[in-house]
Amino acid sequence: MLKYAVIGTSWITQSFIDGAKLDNKMQLSAVYSRSEEKGREFALRNGVDRVFTSLEELAGSDVDAVYIASPNSFHATQSEIMLNAGKHVLCEKPITVTPDELVYLQNLAKKNSVIYAEAIMHMYNPARGLLAKAMERIGRITSAHFDFSQLSSKYPAYKNGELPNIFNPVFATGCLEDLGIYCVYPAVDYFGMPKEISALSYFMESGADGCGSAALRYDDKHVTLTYSKLGQNRLGSQIFGDAGTITIGSISQFTDINIVFNDGTSEKIIGDVPKERLMGNEASLFADIVADPDGYSDFYNELCDTALKTSRIMAEIRKHAGIRFDEYKEIK
Ligand SMILES: NC(=O)c1ccc[n+]([C@@H]2O[C@H](COP(=O)([O-])OP(=O)(O)OC[C@H]3O[C@@H](n4cnc5c(N)ncnc54)[C@H](OP(=O)(O)O)[C@@H]3O)[C@@H](O)[C@H]2O)c1
Repeated sequence: MLKYAVIGTSWITQSFIDGAKLDNKMQLSAVYSRSEEKGREFALRNGVDRVFTSLEELAGSDVDAVYIASPNSFHATQSEIMLNAGKHVLCEKPITVTPDELVYLQNLAKKNSVIYAEAIMHMYNPARGLLAKAMERIGRITSAHFDFSQLSSKYPAYKNGELPNIFNPVFATGCLEDLGIYCVYPAVDYFGMPKEISALSYFMESGADGCGSAALRYDDKHVTLTYSKLGQNRLGSQIFGDAGTITIGSISQFTDINIVFNDGTSEKIIGDVPKERLMGNEASLFADIVADPDGYSDFYNELCDTALKTSRIMAEIRKHAGIRFDEYKEIK
């Protein structure tokens, strides 16, 4: 069983731990927190008694792997420390802020013979393959619209004058990094690299992008992406073929997927899946890759390649939309 530690003690870390328990391939062994007290409370709640407040001490410990769920601006430096110490790393999305540092860290992982992967539900989700098969049944696909608009639970605090991390560009956050990435992933995964990208964003007073859109031009299709933390999507995403349309309730979770054929008939491809199961898929496949890197090398290469292409598109969208993280120091 893969012995792992977590960095970050928010709800998403709890959700990963709960998901990882489902298949019993990863065993929580330690918690890192900036605060001993917070870390201890979180560790005890999860049945472990090892807490680190020093990343170097965590790196020197006997854990095999680390799940990183800190604010985005810490992903690259924390990953670098862990990869240098020979730990396998599963890092929350976006895995790094820039594509150059992703290349650097992917090479570092290769050099140290460890696995380094982005925790993005899309790539580990069995629905990924089901959707690919469904797409073969709707004829020629000429356009798709992926939307992830989810009213942020932190928005009321922001409106009250607070500055939650997610709306603070110092942490390389904002709507594109948080939600837009879930729209970029399927575009890259199913359609590849676009020929041309354009993008616009609406900026909040904090400087964070609160919502935005991007258009991806391919030789044979046009794909639009929209994302917002300031309003709630009630319609989902769609893929348009000349024989039918695929509707996708949640583009991040790939749930509630249906094909509606042009004759009016429809077919359910997938219904609802608990979030815990989706996080569990990430943990399970990550553990499988670590346990059998040769057997999973095709999938791992796909993970690395799709992460890098996504990171490159994200950088291009930021450039066009004017999303800047001026205080972020890229690692090299
Ligand atoms: N996969 C998903 O569905 C999903 C969902 C939500 C978020 N995420 C990703 O998970 C990551 C964390 O997101 P979040 O919303 O949980 O972030 P967050 O609450 O702002 O921070 C996460 C953790 O990082 C530590 N932290 C907070 N502020 C920090 C600071 N200023 N300096 C250093 N560490 C700090 C805290 O742990 P301690 O106080 O214990 O040190 C906190 O528990 C992001 O990369 C996000 O994209 C993924």
